[in-house]
Amino acid sequence: MHCVAPSPPVRQPLSTSERLWLILALVWGLSIVAATSWWHVHGRFNLNAQARPITAEAFVARTQAMIDAHTFGKEGDVPVVRPPADSDVYIVARAWSWWPTLELEKGRSYRLHLSSLDYPHGFLLQTDNINAQVIPGFEQVIELKPSTAGDAMIVCSEYCGLGHPGMTSRIKVR
Ligand code: CUA
Repeated sequence: MHCVAPSPPVRQPLSTSERLWLILALVWGLSIVAATSWWHVHGRFNLNAQARPITAEAFVARTQAMIDAHTFGKEGDVPVVRPPADSDVYIVARAWSWWPTLELEKGRSYRLHLSSLDYPHGFLLQTDNINAQVIPGFEQVIELKPSTAGDAMIVCSEYCGLGHPGMTSRIKVR
């Protein structure tokens, strides 16, 4: 039985291509760190949203108060509400619908409150690049300034059961 001791490692100088790859990897890594930090501050995807605890009863009561004050029509069973600009507006999510339908003015600001009465849902409003989780027990308050006239589709972006694919609505923007 022999034991062969391993020979001590020989340090080879880096070849030019190894050096280049190392520099490339370093520069690439640093630019990703820089881009991530820059986007964190300046990226337009950062939602201007706050989450606060709220009970389902309180949220429904506030939504109903808005509906009572500003409803001007109905589509089926769903009230169509035209709240004034710069006001607080409410949408309730529940399996599997959004309630009520809002009609807002293009270019005006609203504080949009969202909450769920049952499961976690997702509020996706593509025209204004908004995608927010809607969770029972909390309200999300989002600065909304509708940018495009017409019907802005609301799509549920979080799987919430059998009716999830049909959980759509719209905000009418005029
Ligand atoms: Cu609600 Cu998916």
